[in-house]
Amino acid sequence: MATIVVFGGTGYTGGNVVREAVSRGHQVVSVSRSEPEEPVEGVRYETGGAEEVAGRVVPGADAVVAALSPRGDMSGRLVEVYRGLAQQAAEAGARYVQVGGFSSLRPAPGAPRFVEGDIPEQFRDEALEGEATRVLLAEEAPQGLDWVFVSPAGGYGAWAAGERTGSFRVGNDVALFDADGGSNISGADFAAAILDEIERPAHHRAHIGVAY
Ligand SMILES: NC(=O)c1ccc[n+]([C@@H]2O[C@H](COP(=O)([O-])OP(=O)(O)OC[C@H]3O[C@@H](n4cnc5c(N)ncnc54)[C@H](OP(=O)(O)O)[C@@H]3O)[C@@H](O)[C@H]2O)c1
Repeated sequence: MATIVVFGGTGYTGGNVVREAVSRGHQVVSVSRSEPEEPVEGVRYETGGAEEVAGRVVPGADAVVAALSPRGDMSGRLVEVYRGLAQQAAEAGARYVQVGGFSSLRPAPGAPRFVEGDIPEQFRDEALEGEATRVLLAEEAPQGLDWVFVSPAGGYGAWAAGERTGSFRVGNDVALFDADGGSNISGADFAAAILDEIERPAHHRAHIGVAY
């Protein structure tokens, strides 16, 4: 059993991670500024901003999952907040899993990342900020921090929650597409991939993608 701290544990991604982690018997701490609307039994909910709460919940953690979103008043703030969380995770010796976006992936090995091309305007700011959080880890991660940056499929999101299938693929920084050219992953399966990586670390200081 591990102690897992999920920043954004009341959100779409974090909520699925919290549920998956509890169902696997882990000790789970969720951090968010608002109280959960539907608390998950067995989860310790800490209410407050990530920066204020981190100092009391990250020490002693085995894994830290960063699943905030750069929306609303968090727009433009994610890199700064994640820099602090990565530092705290390094000091705690905790594995650090940071959730990013699909557009940080590449269409083919060595090709420019999707975010370097044309991104629809409604996704552009979030894509650029997500990419900046990847660069933060790739270029400035604290020495010794065991991090993994996880990109979901392109069709991932609260608007397409889907179902748990227990069957998915984990790739590197090249996007995975199914036989029909689709790029999808349910919230529950994405969370399962994150828990698999926490329980059996297979990627270190690396960018991975999860899709069907
Ligand atoms: N297809 C894609 O590429 C795709 C699709 C969806 C999401 N994503 C990425 O996945 C990540 C998570 O997105 P999501 O949609 O799951 O997010 P979400 O549902 O908006 O959840 C965000 C969570 O973070 C919490 N939060 C935000 N700011 C906080 C702060 N300063 N301190 C503490 N908690 C804070 C929120 O609760 P409070 O507001 O109460 O604090 C909430 O629990 C993002 O990086 C997003 O870009 C990628």
